[in-house]
Amino acid sequence: DDTKAGVKGLVDAGIVEILRMFIRPIDELAEELIQVKSTLQVPVIDISGLEVEDAHKKIVDEIREASEKWGFFQLINHGIPSSVLEGMVDGTRKFHEQDAELKKEYYSLDRTTRRVRYHSRIQLSQSKTANWRDSLNIARMVSGQIEPEEIPPVCRRAYVEYLKHVIKLGETLADLLSKALGLKPDHLKAMECAKRQGMACHYYPACPHPELTLGVDKHTDPSFFTILLQDQSGGLQVMHNNQWVNVEPIEQGLVVNIGDFLQILSNDKFVSINHRVVAKKVGPRISAACFFTGVFEPPKLYGPIKELISAENPPLYKEFIAGDYITKFFSKPLDISDSQAEIA
Ligand code: SIN
Ligand code: FE2
Repeated sequence: DDTKAGVKGLVDAGIVEILRMFIRPIDELAEELIQVKSTLQVPVIDISGLEVEDAHKKIVDEIREASEKWGFFQLINHGIPSSVLEGMVDGTRKFHEQDAELKKEYYSLDRTTRRVRYHSRIQLSQSKTANWRDSLNIARMVSGQIEPEEIPPVCRRAYVEYLKHVIKLGETLADLLSKALGLKPDHLKAMECAKRQGMACHYYPACPHPELTLGVDKHTDPSFFTILLQDQSGGLQVMHNNQWVNVEPIEQGLVVNIGDFLQILSNDKFVSINHRVVAKKVGPRISAACFFTGVFEPPKLYGPIKELISAENPPLYKEFIAGDYITKFFSKPLDISDSQAEIA
């Protein structure tokens, strides 16, 4: 039952050593010592000029370049009011910091039956150890629709408000990403890429031995794209040119990353890149990821977009079903190469 108090519960109990389940394998820890940390910066894109033709074109170009070279970018002047962003971070903090008894009602490790659930010590399928974080997930939304009563009372109003805005931004992004791929603006929308969403609202407690564990192990996202709100703590890193790059928090900025599905649809033009969150001595760090995952019911086949393939650029992937891909992400070692087409 202690597990239900989360990683936060361990910290509150005053632990000074971390449990073995969180400790990374020795080879990974050794590798960490020799890894070079990059001082490069993830591209920052100002989208305030979307309504102006020249500015719009420049924004599309910047998104194309970032999606090809980094698979990550930060958006500023995206139009979501700062009060809404702050409310979202604050609501997430309040959920995780409320009385453990109230939190436990939402505790479940069964992602198939529970739409709104809190969980902890998660181990991604590719990961060898548990992650130093607690999460509240809100799954299976269509156009952000959810009965507000399903959301825990402490964060209900903030989440409903943020969802409204982030879904709209997701639709704008689908349009910009379509153009960045050289397609009609509504191409990705017509494929219903942004129609379904899931949110994961994370709480990374302070860690007595941050060098031994990770907030979240390296992974790529099983989504078309993800919009991430992070507080000012820092700790998110992305792989670029074989080095970890810090994604420096920007006040009121939002991080966007290309997920596996869009890498597949774009036939590798856009890249879905490994990222992770390091643990820290100070905390908590709070973040909220909104995944745009395409439709599941009825199951729909997604694959490289016809307009993007040709004799010279044959499809690199088979078609896949989004729901199945995500199930695999949480249940067995997964690699985007699982979807690679057998090409002679
Ligand atoms: C994740 O990618 O799983 C979380 C990213 C974050 O918390 O910043
Ligand atoms: Fe992620």
